[in-house]
Amino acid sequence: MINLTTNSLYRAGASALTLWLATFGAQAAIIEVREGERIQDAVNQAAPGDEILVYPGLYSETVYVDKDDITLRGVVEGGNWPHLDGNKQLNDAILYSGNGFSVEWFKITHYKGNAIMGQAGNNFSIRNNWVIDSGVYGIFPEFGENGLIENNILSGIEDAAIYVGMSDYIDVRNNQVFDSVAGIEIENSRHVLVEGNLAKNNTGGILVFITPGLPIKSSYDAIIRRNFVLDNNTPNFGIPGSLVSQIPAGSGIIVMSGDEVIIEDNVITGNNNAGIIITSQDFVTAIATDTGSDPNPDAVQIRDNVMFNNGASPEGEMKLLMLTKFSTTGPDILAYQGATAAERGSCISRRNAYRAHGVDDWANCDSPTIRATDAIAGREPSDSTRAIATKMLSEPAAPRVINDDASGAEIVYQGICAGCHAYNVRLIGPPTLAIQAQYGEDAGSIAAYIANPEKKRPDFPTMPPQDHLSEPMRQLVAKYMLTLTN
Ligand code: HEC
Repeated sequence: MINLTTNSLYRAGASALTLWLATFGAQAAIIEVREGERIQDAVNQAAPGDEILVYPGLYSETVYVDKDDITLRGVVEGGNWPHLDGNKQLNDAILYSGNGFSVEWFKITHYKGNAIMGQAGNNFSIRNNWVIDSGVYGIFPEFGENGLIENNILSGIEDAAIYVGMSDYIDVRNNQVFDSVAGIEIENSRHVLVEGNLAKNNTGGILVFITPGLPIKSSYDAIIRRNFVLDNNTPNFGIPGSLVSQIPAGSGIIVMSGDEVIIEDNVITGNNNAGIIITSQDFVTAIATDTGSDPNPDAVQIRDNVMFNNGASPEGEMKLLMLTKFSTTGPDILAYQGATAAERGSCISRRNAYRAHGVDDWANCDSPTIRATDAIAGREPSDSTRAIATKMLSEPAAPRVINDDASGAEIVYQGICAGCHAYNVRLIGPPTLAIQAQYGEDAGSIAAYIANPEKKRPDFPTMPPQDHLSEPMRQLVAKYMLTLTN
């Protein structure tokens, strides 16, 4: 490992460099890592502002970044990548809880859990990574604000390839996701732009969901724009019992309970169940409800999408539903359950271009005079979202600070535990409600368990250890888990 004294701001010009040095009085370093060395050693040695350059070669480790302003940058030379491989033994490739984290140019394969997971870090950037056959979630920022997920390629993920969970102000651009259960999933998140992505050959292409039982109760203000959503017909291979295992194959875009979702200028073809489904939480059968969240999708706009060849062979419930409409093919667009009524404030443009069901009471978006959604959202009418270039913040979000106290425990719970535990719904782990019944008030035993989890349930994976949390924090987060009520 070599430490260079070059400042990463060097490229910004000498004056910026001088200014920066005058302000901080120290130089950020570039730390180099080569095959045979450990990336984690470089992270341990790094100070905020440092950049870690990883050269091509095979690395088999979990990299955990809990410092602020660290950049992990792969060096790709002659087609050779720095390659993190988990051998189907390791749980996670890269976990970060620090703010201002960037990671780019890594190839990641064969981890069991996550390729890249954010745990409550704000102001992140995840770009140009290549993730293959790697576990449950590919790129998964959980409870983060102000982030960019761009130009990544992911395939063969058992749950969501790109999973934006309980996060705000996020752009997901120009990624390619294929051969996964869910291509891109926006869950209980606000202010999100999903643009220019290719979602192909997944079970479901792009999802905007409110999952009940999570600490963040809403999902609204999402623009799904100029994506290619093609042939998402892969049979569902999600972990049995998990939420995404219930997504019918052949689904292009699904909005479940999400509000103020604009689906605009996408190309959506060859999805054998349906092109776009707008529905309430009843869509995923056997799911519990959450008194803290509204199960119905409100103010959805479907505008100017190109759609054809969707619905060639509808599955299960969709098949039955279409038979009641005297059709053996699925629709381009289906609004149903809580999505159909006029008072939901949803609208559609060019309604006659599509084979659409359930949108009879929706307003037209083509007429600038009828814009119920704008009225509901308190916006001036406008004809398209084209003027909106990003949902990211113009200034960085305040860094998340995790103290060893009850408020810190809440952040840890939301940033880590809620990724797998919902209150009354099975996600990757058992529902919190069941754990509360099992442990009563015994926070101490939970704190001990999560440091070193053993296999308990035959039908669940083993929980990954949380031994990177301090003993006091494990106690605090265990107490927090036992007090949750929805
Ligand atoms: C990557 C997913 C994941 C994350 C993150 C996670 N868990 Fe779990 N958890 C699981 C799974 C899976 C099980 C079931 C394991 C089994 O039965 O073998 C489980 C089980 C548990 C149990 C029950 C243990 C028992 O005795 O049956 C507790 C308590 C628990 N988790 C607490 C937590 C807390 C607290 C956090 C956050 C610090 C957390 N978990 C984070 C997946 C996760």
